[in-house]
Amino acid sequence: MEILKNYPLQHLNTFGIAAAAKEFVSVTSVAELAEVLKENAGKPLFILGGGSNMLLTQDINALVIHININGIEVVWQDENTVHIKAMAGENWHGFVQYCISKGYGGIENLSLIPGNVGTTPIQNIGAYGTEIKDTMVSCEGMNIATQQLTTFTNEECEFAYRESVFKGRLKGMYVITSVTFALTRTHHKINTSYGDIAAELAKHSINVPTIKDVGAAITAIRQSKLPDPKELGNSGSFFKNPIISAEQFEKLYVKHPQMPHYILNEFEVKVPAGWLIEQCGFKGSRYGDAGVHARQALVLVNYGNATGAELLALSKKIQDTVLDTFGIAIEAEVNVV
Ligand code: EPU
Repeated sequence: MEILKNYPLQHLNTFGIAAAAKEFVSVTSVAELAEVLKENAGKPLFILGGGSNMLLTQDINALVIHININGIEVVWQDENTVHIKAMAGENWHGFVQYCISKGYGGIENLSLIPGNVGTTPIQNIGAYGTEIKDTMVSCEGMNIATQQLTTFTNEECEFAYRESVFKGRLKGMYVITSVTFALTRTHHKINTSYGDIAAELAKHSINVPTIKDVGAAITAIRQSKLPDPKELGNSGSFFKNPIISAEQFEKLYVKHPQMPHYILNEFEVKVPAGWLIEQCGFKGSRYGDAGVHARQALVLVNYGNATGAELLALSKKIQDTVLDTFGIAIEAEVNVV
């Protein structure tokens, strides 16, 4: 494994930001990862997966370790269930498609989410009524300091909305090397309850959808709303949907009866940040090469040569305006580096 100096990262982050790594190495096996971690102990390190959930605002003054470990393996199965393990460097959507092609159900609602398998437990990726926590059995992580591999059960990951123990208590301590899912081989739990899925299926006159149909419907919906990072740099949802108190919600709802919302429990209501941002007039706006996507206000885009600092400034302006207008603080979902 060669350690490269001053390595350009533009093609390794989906925002397409031009930034460089002081040092860079790509590892293709768990053994190589252990070796690099051991040999570079004490150095500042930066673990890079699919680069789909970060905004680079500066060069990375560290050794960037690119997790390029591939492989998919069935570890156990019976008639109804399969436990399938994917290595961290597998492209997430490729893995979803592989599972659908084998008739394994449970992650089809997570079709077309950018990024790699290894990052999925870190922020408990979710879309269209499904989250990783619904099917993940366990994941393996390598302790950066000791190079020991530990298995984390679903419970030990302490999953919550876009959160896990790896963003909290164990932040920066482990590199996820593989993730194992329990998927259905029969009796699939088809979930078409979210938003536009039923309408998309109806368009194709599908009454009894298969997991393949659901995957295709979600792919079509995402393609219609979300920009393809290969064509327009972006990092998916830039912000999390804020959770506000029922009391605050009731006051706002009187003024904005059209405000979409999800009642979480007696005390909390989740409000779509995309709606709040659109109401503030940002949808489709552009400042130089930094902008807000025209079809989904939750997504910031790089029209070509935006810097991370410009996108960060735009995100701050949006946060300030939403706070002034609605009294709601919205938090970034992407990692600002
Ligand atoms: N909305 C607007 N304007 C917008 C965007 C949304 O009014 O510009 C409204 C929609 O009309 C709808 C509501 O907000 O009533 C929710 O919109 P949508 O279904 O598009 O979902 P979201 O809450 O904006 C979340 C996830 C997405 C995920 C979708 C579908 C977060 C932060 N984002 O977005 O995840 O694909 O639901 O499940 O939870 C991602 O994380 O990168 C991502 C794209």
